[in-house]
Amino acid sequence: MTVRSIIRSCGAYLPDRIMTNRDLEDVVDTSDEWIVQRTGIRERRIAAENETTADMAIAAAKAALAHGRFTAADIDGIIVCTSTPNHTFPAVAVDVQAALDIRPCPAFDLQAVCSGFVYGLNVADMFIRSGQCRRLLLIGAEKFSSILDWTDRTTCVLFGDGAGAVVLEVDESGDGSLNDRGILFSRLYADGRQKNILYTSGGPATTQDSGYVVMEGREVFRHAVSNMSQIVTEVLEVNKLSADRIDWLVPHQANVRIIEGTAKKLGLGMDRVIVTVDRHGNTSAASIPLALNEAVQDGRIKPGNLVLFEALGAGLTWGAVLARF
Ligand code: ACO
Repeated sequence: MTVRSIIRSCGAYLPDRIMTNRDLEDVVDTSDEWIVQRTGIRERRIAAENETTADMAIAAAKAALAHGRFTAADIDGIIVCTSTPNHTFPAVAVDVQAALDIRPCPAFDLQAVCSGFVYGLNVADMFIRSGQCRRLLLIGAEKFSSILDWTDRTTCVLFGDGAGAVVLEVDESGDGSLNDRGILFSRLYADGRQKNILYTSGGPATTQDSGYVVMEGREVFRHAVSNMSQIVTEVLEVNKLSADRIDWLVPHQANVRIIEGTAKKLGLGMDRVIVTVDRHGNTSAASIPLALNEAVQDGRIKPGNLVLFEALGAGLTWGAVLARF
């Protein structure tokens, strides 16, 4: 008997407002052609002024509970992956807990920027395998539009808002092999030497405000291509797995060129890669659960499929998780 965490259900929330590349041409000196060519992004969702990260997290969590036919009483752990919390404290996770009326249980935010959801999957899996939680809500939620410098064309065209959620549940039916359902393997990294190529210009202990996203795009791109290619190779080697056994790649959605590079390294056709960056932009910790939800709801990802998640974000942080649905 092996204890595993199975992703039982998914949900998502996207704000109503669509901002196209053409709309951005009125904001900064850019063009639809430049943005599409360099990133693959065509549009992104932008939250209403009074719509918060917690509002989006709550909506995504409700959808995940409904899809799995779970109620608040089934949940005994909440992790929200975010870098754009409503407040410095308390955590968005307790907003979710209060709004959904979930009983006292571990509830906290996890901050690993765009790698947040992959970090979150690993942490949630450890809570479940250690016996501390049986059914945990894991949410990625971001309002990046509120930390963008809307006069900086090198960053403001890249990001969007939204939230995605999953319910992870303990399962003891596996035999410890890669044929088991659930999270099979996780690997996380950070390299603080690269912290100055992607950061916010402020924070509670420095400027007393949240600051704005600052990025050396070309450097981040270079690290993303090489680190993503290194980590997917590592996942295959450690698990003695050939790439053709992977049914779906669900990558962090920052740039379609980075996604295509990783798929190529794996030898996977783009028909086995979930891509939402064209419509969502980079929603940081929300991008993977948003992409996952889309592919589960439209029937591409089915029970039994082997799915590889990977992401890189500020820190730099990066990681990958292998899971069978
Ligand atoms: N519109 C038009 N021109 C622009 C824009 C824009 N929005 N932004 C930059 N340019 C110009 C630059 O000024 C530069 O002009 P110059 O040559 O005259 O100086 C030219 O376009 C090329 O700029 P580069 O930065 O070299 O463009 P690049 O091809 O590297 O693409 C991009 C930029 C899209 C940001 C890319 O580097 C990238 O995707 N980087 C990785 C981002 C990423 O993966 N982030 C993940 C983590 S995010 C997180 O953790 C929060």
